[in-house]
Amino acid sequence: MQRNLNVKADRPSPEREFEASVLHGLSRRPRAIPAKFLYDAQGSALFDAICELPEYYLTRTEISILRECAPQIAALAGPARQLIEFGSGSSVKTRLLLDSMEKVSAYVPIDISGEHLEATCRRLRGDYPSLTVVPVCADYMELQDLPWVPGTGAPSRLGFFPGSTIGNLEPADARAFLQKARQLLGDEGALVLGADLKKDPGMLHAAYNDSAGVTAAFSLNLLRRMNRELNANFDIDGFEHEAFYNGGAGRIEIYIRSLRPQTVAVAGQRFFFDAGERVHTEYSYKYDLGDIDSLAAQGGFARVRTWTDPDRLFSVHYLVAA
Ligand code: AVJ
Repeated sequence: MQRNLNVKADRPSPEREFEASVLHGLSRRPRAIPAKFLYDAQGSALFDAICELPEYYLTRTEISILRECAPQIAALAGPARQLIEFGSGSSVKTRLLLDSMEKVSAYVPIDISGEHLEATCRRLRGDYPSLTVVPVCADYMELQDLPWVPGTGAPSRLGFFPGSTIGNLEPADARAFLQKARQLLGDEGALVLGADLKKDPGMLHAAYNDSAGVTAAFSLNLLRRMNRELNANFDIDGFEHEAFYNGGAGRIEIYIRSLRPQTVAVAGQRFFFDAGERVHTEYSYKYDLGDIDSLAAQGGFARVRTWTDPDRLFSVHYLVAA
């Protein structure tokens, strides 16, 4: 596996990075901890459970769209493309593309988690024996190049960024992601982007406040993770999950809220929480086509096609390097 390919060598270990981010995030005002830390093993399992919830329409809707449009994506992409996935996770959606695309010259999953990457590659190689899989274990934002794949000429690359992962990024970061993707994919590059659509606020609210409480457990797992890994002593019952749609900003905002005044120790430091005081954990931005067009333009892409479901809940876009 390609580890730290062309990336800065001064990356702290994952444990130290979590500790440093938490201590910094709890010391500043407003308090905030980056969303990426929600996904330890337990958090990832809870997120998988979220994807099965009746209220959480995103995953199943995107998969249904991809099932329909994969042949059209394959036709737009043409043969002998390298398929580059940004944050590949379990690569379930990737298979829908691989099954439709002609003679994919290589699949290049990029993921920060080496364990995930190895398990995913093992399964994919088993199911697609003739596919060249070139995993890259890295933070794609720190990559300068993609690996050279033996036996291919000038690479023609198709990027894949599904799941409305873009929704977690604030506008400046979403722009930076697209600019990085544009740089890595090159002048012949294209990008398949999945984005959740703006819609009835009631439906958005329900998707992040499910009746079974799985989303709350997913959020509050961050406290459990701090207890497990940072020697913290959060009383989980002393906090609640809060999620609401901010229509002006076009985003779901998610917080962990203290139910009473309390002091908590984390990695040897003490933090006081007032009753009602919040720690921000996530944004989930919702897009309309105009938002996608301006984001694409800022990132050096142009939108050439969009697919949605009949209820216009979710969208998949084909962007090409402009
Ligand atoms: C993985 C970022 C797409 O924003 O819908 C789901 C994360 N958080 N429920 C989303 C999430 C709470 C999810 N993304």
